[in-house]
Amino acid sequence: MTDPVRVTLESAADSASVRIYDDEGDVSTDDATFRFSVGGDRPESEPADTDEGPVADSEADDPRRIAPLADVPTKGTLRCEARSGNRGTELILRREGETVSAWRNSCPHKPAVRLDPGSGAIVRDDQLVCHEHGARFECGDGVCTAGPCRGDALESIAVAVRDGAVYLTDDRFDSCRRLTESAA
Ligand code: FES
Repeated sequence: MTDPVRVTLESAADSASVRIYDDEGDVSTDDATFRFSVGGDRPESEPADTDEGPVADSEADDPRRIAPLADVPTKGTLRCEARSGNRGTELILRREGETVSAWRNSCPHKPAVRLDPGSGAIVRDDQLVCHEHGARFECGDGVCTAGPCRGDALESIAVAVRDGAVYLTDDRFDSCRRLTESAA
């Protein structure tokens, strides 16, 4: 606080007045105490404000909600972008029954090559297939079982299915948006 402020506390039987130079303190009479804090933490004796501000977003407005479960394909992939601040990371999702797996949209053989270039990744015999050199990846753990990067694995992204929708649960990201609107 740059300029002093005079605070006066009056009750029926008493009156007290102080000049304040600090950002917090108190003024007391016989039967009342006025505690104050300017621009700082709330004094301990003051009850917390029960108004918690805006109501939490609905599920549909959750920035980590990716898509309805039914929109995630079994014979292809849904392409999305997960964001952390200003940084975006492309990921792809594939569904097996009620389970959804997600990986970074990048081939371990050549990271600049996207498994899903925009129309869905190739899925053959229940494996993802890189269109560039034919590497094949397990749809669960993303391990490459054949091709030039055999033994390497796709980078997994954590997602979860809740109430019929898929949500990003990977702590590295704070929001997600779809890049493909429809899926096969
Ligand atoms: S870039 Fe994917 S297998 Fe070569």
